[in-house]
Amino acid sequence: MESMTPEAFDAQFRAQHRSLLLGELWANAWGEQYPAEVAPSSGCPWRLLGLMVASLRPAPGSALVDLGCGLGGPGLWLARATGTRLVGVDWSAAAVGIARERAHAWLPSARVRFRTGTFDATGLDTASADSVISVDALALAPDPHAALTEVRRVLRPGGRLLFTAAEPAAGLGPGGESAWTEPLRAAGLVPGTRHELPGEDAAWGRLYASVREHQRELRAQMGDVATDTLLAEADAVQPYLEELSWGAVGASAPA
Ligand SMILES: C[S@@+](CC[C@H](N)C(=O)[O-])C[C@H]1O[C@@H](n2cnc3c(N)ncnc32)[C@H](O)[C@@H]1O
Repeated sequence: MESMTPEAFDAQFRAQHRSLLLGELWANAWGEQYPAEVAPSSGCPWRLLGLMVASLRPAPGSALVDLGCGLGGPGLWLARATGTRLVGVDWSAAAVGIARERAHAWLPSARVRFRTGTFDATGLDTASADSVISVDALALAPDPHAALTEVRRVLRPGGRLLFTAAEPAAGLGPGGESAWTEPLRAAGLVPGTRHELPGEDAAWGRLYASVREHQRELRAQMGDVATDTLLAEADAVQPYLEELSWGAVGASAPA
């Protein structure tokens, strides 16, 4: 997103939420990997949802936090699938409002809460989370060390983090090690495995191409500003798609 402010995300979320076509373009871009009910504002293929379950293994009743939750889909899906209690945090009040509305269809109200907060000031209690997820969000943090230190504070001892990030493939370590490994350690977290997410570059490429192709209809549904923001993202990211590698990076708080 061009200007990284909560207000810019508010406007984008309100506009995107109005567009049925954008949802269809997202679905077509991810094809059979698209979890329609989740309707992510991210790259959140079915294989990532499966990976979340397998690598976090949240116990029923335990506390799950979704950082940069957007409209809430990935966290709602995971909390319903695993019987956990969900807190979604995002700095966009508009996103949090829409996520709250969506939550009724997914979880009993006692098991779900959405609140505004930033990556480095979530407003959550210390050691209150058993699992933390962040889908295409935490990597946007302006101060990654502050954001990871906040995750470390919020996780209970032994609690687990899984977040997605696109990284330059050339910057990965010999065993596919993430460039986030050192920042995770510096924040007091124990780095875990990085799982490659194949096909994300192609899916983003298809999405950006279809946004260009359908920009007239998108302008009618979302307005010019939101459409131009998406087109600017396409222009900025598309040239680098082949150089990037998408992965889900795991870590845990020391037990
Ligand atoms: C690409 S969207 C992903 C949303 C959601 N995780 C999903 O998968 O649908 C990135 C999200 O990060 C949020 N975000 C960006 N910077 C943030 C910050 N500094 N603090 C909290 N949230 C932030 C945005 O508002 C947006 O909802």
